[in-house]
Amino acid sequence: MLVGNDVVDLFDAETDLDALHQRFAERVFAGDERRTILSSADPRLALWTYWAAKESAYKVVRKIDRDAIFAPSAFAVEIEGRDGARRLRGSVRYGRRRIGLKVQQSGAWIHALATLGSPGSHADFVLSAVTRRPPRRDPSAAARAGAVRALSRELGLPLEGLRIARTRPPAVLLRGRDIGLDLSLSHHGRWTAYAAALPPAGMPG
Ligand SMILES: CC(C)(COP(=O)(O)OP(=O)(O)OC[C@H]1O[C@@H](n2cnc3c(N)ncnc32)[C@H](O)[C@@H]1OP(=O)(O)O)[C@@H](O)C(=O)NCCC(=O)NCCS
Repeated sequence: MLVGNDVVDLFDAETDLDALHQRFAERVFAGDERRTILSSADPRLALWTYWAAKESAYKVVRKIDRDAIFAPSAFAVEIEGRDGARRLRGSVRYGRRRIGLKVQQSGAWIHALATLGSPGSHADFVLSAVTRRPPRRDPSAAARAGAVRALSRELGLPLEGLRIARTRPPAVLLRGRDIGLDLSLSHHGRWTAYAAALPPAGMPG
């Protein structure tokens, strides 16, 4: 399974609809997406939910196609239902591919998780979280440190030997060796987030 994730800080000034250039919505969202966003009870929440969905799906696509560019309008978001008040599920279509989507909304952030299963992959569990970035800490380093701690705990691997290479997409290294674990990182404003596809039996040490 391949994962992509994206976090949006809803307190970041960038997310004010008034701050967006007029043409932004036309460039990024298809007509039906714009209608859904504008007719929703909270257009700002809806707009950034769709945006996070597209970015998370792009991070998955980038793992299959290294030359893929981020053209937001090529990612068609469909919200299919709710799993509780703050959890949405749906999909993102990109060409012939349909990427699974889960979105979590807190009052402070939106987190989108995109997944694409691949035959032969035994991953059946996604470990993911949104964490507050320590003040003044570099966002990229904070995201990687959060993911390293979580993976060490979850997989029983030594914290000292684990590292995430700042490649795009990121790679998880154990004592310098890529252990082939699929990971996605995101950071925006005060938040960092990660998502990792875990195999059922854990990773080798
Ligand atoms: C992927 C992208 C959409 C996310 O950007 P963002 O919202 O600023 O970043 P996020 O915080 O959500 O995610 C950052 C993480 O995503 C991953 N990431 C970033 N760019 C990536 C890419 N191109 N491919 C795969 N993973 C990528 C990295 O892990 C990165 O962490 P890092 O900053 O610590 O290295 C952005 O980097 C982008 O636009 N890339 C595409 C560029 C492109 O297509 N240009 C052509 C335009 S015509």
